[in-house]
Amino acid sequence: MYPGLVHAHSGLRWIALILLLAAVAVAIGKWQGRSGYTDGNRKLYLFTLIAVHTQLLIGLLLYFISPKVNFDQLSDKLYRFYTVEHTTGMLIAIVLITIGYSRSKRATDPTTKQRLVGIFYGLGLLLILASIPWPFRIPGAGWF
Ligand code: HEM
Repeated sequence: MYPGLVHAHSGLRWIALILLLAAVAVAIGKWQGRSGYTDGNRKLYLFTLIAVHTQLLIGLLLYFISPKVNFDQLSDKLYRFYTVEHTTGMLIAIVLITIGYSRSKRATDPTTKQRLVGIFYGLGLLLILASIPWPFRIPGAGWF
């Protein structure tokens, strides 16, 4: 089960990243162009939220079974990364995206709806990019 979860979590990053990039580009474009709120962009923002929440769920499972999560070896860069840095960064990012989605859903003005997604999803995307274990940064991490 462990290797399957790591593969799913690693591969799903690309779906989450592509959806986030598309959502941020559409939201900022429509915010700046004041071009309204459509059913299509509402679905894009919802699927993006579902993708990052799925990552949260798999990540939480991994947190309990991964050998790379180890509170006794926090002086080691690799263990500290997965035990503290990756998890904290991703949790904050997912909270930001969730706040952006729900505040945008409650807003009534179309431009405000787009602005909230553009800002909160944008900040979440930056934090996720900074917290991913990219192979050029973290030994043993993969691209997929
Ligand atoms: C959008 C959010 C997230 C993304 C894009 C993401 C991405 C990744 C990637 C690419 C890896 C490396 C897998 C590999 O070695 O090939 C990884 C590992 C891991 N992630 Fe996440 N992650 C996210 C959220 C989380 C969260 C919220 C948690 C914990 C609550 C978490 C816990 C872990 C753990 C424990 C590992 C190490 C797995 C192992 O190799 O043993 N992740 N993550």
